[in-house]
Amino acid sequence: MSIKVIAITGSHRKNSNTELALQIMSKRLAKIGVETEIIALANKKIEHCRACDNCKKTGNCLIDDELVEIMEKMTIAQGIILACPVYSFNITPLMQDLIARGNRFFHILAKSAIEDNSNNPGFTYKNIPSSVLKGKVGAAITTARRAGGGMALWKLNNFMLVNEMYVVGSCYENTIFGNERGSIVKDIEGMNNLYKLTDNFGTLLKKLFG
Ligand SMILES: Cc1cc2nc3c(=O)[nH]c(=O)nc-3n(C[C@H](O)[C@H](O)[C@H](O)COP(=O)(O)O)c2cc1C
Repeated sequence: MSIKVIAITGSHRKNSNTELALQIMSKRLAKIGVETEIIALANKKIEHCRACDNCKKTGNCLIDDELVEIMEKMTIAQGIILACPVYSFNITPLMQDLIARGNRFFHILAKSAIEDNSNNPGFTYKNIPSSVLKGKVGAAITTARRAGGGMALWKLNNFMLVNEMYVVGSCYENTIFGNERGSIVKDIEGMNNLYKLTDNFGTLLKKLFG
């Protein structure tokens, strides 16, 4: 079976450092036969979760925007990479939208679509359904000028962990430093961490899905 990875960048600018990091990962993964689709959230029509709880009550979301297609692609892939620049010691608003809506989507909405939902018992926090992302392989990276990479990274990793994914690491924290476009390649230690992360990610993908 061919192995497919969806790699998402939460940068608000195109041709960004974070996208560059994903291109480097993609090229390395291609060498072992793993195909990566890079998706930039920038300039996509993406709304915030409205907290209407319609998904919990009916299994439907009232928002029909470009994030739905991205999340659907994530449900089909074997591997997911979440990559985000640090904005104010945090992930970006775009990535936060994916995480807020994604937790509902993967636990309730995608599950309802895949499984017969005609007898939907409704959602309760005592009985959160397993995520459709369960068992997929995950990796996260952040890019930063200097500070807050670890906090942002924790959010990306935690999202994948609560969706029961197998999240891989590297030999050190996966924050790559750089500010001007392209400058992350000068962070030698960050690049080495990125290569190791990519190799660990590829190894687990091959073991599970190769
Ligand atoms: C609104 C905004 C807030 C930022 N806040 C931080 C920050 O808290 N810490 C930091 O190290 N870098 C911060 N940066 C710098 C970016 O993380 C850095 O330039 C990164 O390389 C941008 O990645 P990108 O090219 O993928 O967008 C900020 C940048 C912007 C635009």
